[in-house]
Amino acid sequence: MEEHLTVGRVAELAGVTVRTLHHYDEIGLMRPSMRTAAGYRVYSAGDVERLQEVLAYRRLGFGLGEIAELIDDPAADAVAHLRLLRGLLVEQRDRAAVMVTAIDRELEARAMGIRTTPAEQLRVFGAQLYDAIGSAYPATRRTEPRIAARIWEALGDARTVLNVGAGTGSYEPHDRDVTAVEPSAVMRAQRPVGAAPCVAAGADNLPFGDQSFDVAMAVSTVHHWPDPVAGLREMRRVARRVVVFTYDADDTGWRQRFWLTRDYLPEFADLLAGRPSLADLTRAIGGRAEPVLIPWDCEDGFFEAHWRRPEAYLEEHVRRAVSVWTRVGPQAEQRAVSALREDLASGRWAERNRDLVALDAAELGLRLLVA
Ligand SMILES: C[S@@+](CC[C@H](N)C(=O)[O-])C[C@H]1O[C@@H](n2cnc3c(N)ncnc32)[C@H](O)[C@@H]1O
Repeated sequence: MEEHLTVGRVAELAGVTVRTLHHYDEIGLMRPSMRTAAGYRVYSAGDVERLQEVLAYRRLGFGLGEIAELIDDPAADAVAHLRLLRGLLVEQRDRAAVMVTAIDRELEARAMGIRTTPAEQLRVFGAQLYDAIGSAYPATRRTEPRIAARIWEALGDARTVLNVGAGTGSYEPHDRDVTAVEPSAVMRAQRPVGAAPCVAAGADNLPFGDQSFDVAMAVSTVHHWPDPVAGLREMRRVARRVVVFTYDADDTGWRQRFWLTRDYLPEFADLLAGRPSLADLTRAIGGRAEPVLIPWDCEDGFFEAHWRRPEAYLEEHVRRAVSVWTRVGPQAEQRAVSALREDLASGRWAERNRDLVALDAAELGLRLLVA
């Protein structure tokens, strides 16, 4: 026989007040399916299941309106909710781990009398970050063939290739002799079977002699290095030619053009504080910078990739594969996503960005540096 619980008992077991349960009932979020003859609320097993979901989302910081939308979604059953909740909790745990590591570093630095700059304090650096968030990377991050074609063309006739900050191996050409360098163990572990051999090292100290490779390449990684200019000089030292896919951190023009940073995530600008200019980067390798447009259906899910597919940014797995979202912190992320969700529903996003629909590719500050 199905067990039913009184409101007092449910409150006690769930660790919330009776008042909270009454409030959830009044706003229609969690209505117990029965009442006793005397009018008291009685919760069935199904009600308790729903309440458990409501409370879990609440503890993760969701608003009551958002929770109602989530749990009333006819496409999501109890197992789907458990999966989503689990993913969110794992993410929260990973973020906490990243923050603990950053705080430990800061404490260590202070104990040694070293004062980190404000920009450094706000930044959680590369490999540690990827050890925390890297497992979410392969969900949406892969070689984008049109960008790969540009990179591979720039490699010229090079036979031996060093890929620095190689991650899971995206953009590594299959017709050349590739050696990878990647400091994060989590990223190295996700390289596919048969991928190029990978050395555990960081860009600032490449364990190779001068001119060991025909070319050194680095894709979507320079902004994670503690000292990008030193890393690029290292690449120049170990290879005759250098090819780097990165973005222009000092041009505010594209940040204003990209609706995500302009209208929803202004905190992105803080992540760029103190980054070397594009001129500094090109100077470090003695090369030139060429713009790379992002196709509207870009297959590599980096931060700007979904500029014409805004709904993608509402997807947790899309955001988790991009470090920006972890680095701005959960508050900014949730605020940005809620505002975007509302604007998509109300048509405000479409109105503001109606010009984008006609574009097949966008200039959002991505650059190929070639030397
Ligand atoms: C966005 S991923 C890009 C990975 C790969 N190149 C790609 O295009 O998919 C950034 C990578 O840079 C690596 N990284 C972080 N700090 C680094 C450093 N100091 N030197 C070299 N790589 C670093 C991270 O571990 C991560 O794998």
